[in-house]
Amino acid sequence: MNRLNELNLDRPLDMHVHFRQGNMLQVVAPLTAESFAGAIVMPNLVPPIRSLEAVQAYREAILKATQGRNFTPFMTLFFWAYTDAELEAAADQITAIKLYPAGVTTNSEEGIGDLFAARTTLSAMEELGIPLLIHGETHGFVLDREREFLATYDRLAREFPRLKIVMEHITTREAVELLDRHEHLYATVTLHHLLITLDDVAGGLLQPHLFCKPIAKRPEDREALLQAVLQGHPKISFGSDSAPHPLSAKECAGCAAGIFTAPHALPMLAELFDRHQALDKLQGFVSDHPRAIYSVQPAPKTVRLSRTPSVIPPNYGEVIPFRAGQTCAWSIEDIQ
Ligand code: NCD
Ligand code: ZN
Repeated sequence: MNRLNELNLDRPLDMHVHFRQGNMLQVVAPLTAESFAGAIVMPNLVPPIRSLEAVQAYREAILKATQGRNFTPFMTLFFWAYTDAELEAAADQITAIKLYPAGVTTNSEEGIGDLFAARTTLSAMEELGIPLLIHGETHGFVLDREREFLATYDRLAREFPRLKIVMEHITTREAVELLDRHEHLYATVTLHHLLITLDDVAGGLLQPHLFCKPIAKRPEDREALLQAVLQGHPKISFGSDSAPHPLSAKECAGCAAGIFTAPHALPMLAELFDRHQALDKLQGFVSDHPRAIYSVQPAPKTVRLSRTPSVIPPNYGEVIPFRAGQTCAWSIEDIQ
């Protein structure tokens, strides 16, 4: 079989990204907007995005920061006990609502305790067709948090049979298995969870730039994610969970959780899919699956990737990217 040296991606999407605010937004948003046609932007700002006014102001700030790059930000609200009227007003302004259990990750302090207490909000979302994106971790032992949360996904899926539920950044074999048990359950997978395990984070010298939530797991978990993604599982979309923090918040006592992958995500995905002879599955993962699942209409954009080495820069402003200074076997050749 001929090995492909080039690959055109039609409207690549990132279904889970953190753009932050202020100066950081100005640095990181253009890097995603450069190579992606659209992205679901997370609402875990300080304070969180919890009103239509806040959604609109954030969208404006993102559009300004990404001007001229032909990019659509898909906006989200931070899950809260919204009224029917609030949801009806927001429905055509947002792509989804993101739920964080209180205290499980960066800027989730305002998240909720018992999500079943917000039953009327969940029913209204179901009626209005607003997908629910969930950071599915408990407060248990760090390696077990996602597995422990799976029962909650299962219960939600049973109690709200028409609600689109997306298990964000899944990291375990059991989460992959759960995906096929409910028709309306979907998942996103990051680049880094396809590449690293806990060994890369803490097996040698501690690597703060590989520390994230959920923490990278065991080799067999990574293998299960890889198999599902490389076989083109139609309910799995790419969501980078690119989560920038300044160097001072990463290389210190009390390292913040988050890995910054956005600028090189597409060439690194091409390198990975190529290594596994699965380049033909990349278009589905980064665009066809999410377009079908979330019914989004991104702006036209074609990204041509080629098997030409590219070096990952040491930093973008104050942020150190994933695999800084290393070489990726693929690069972005052209963007139309
Ligand atoms: C994210 C962040 O920094 O906002 N951190 C992370 O480790 N992934 C939050 C999140 O998605 O959990
Ligand atoms: Zn995230």
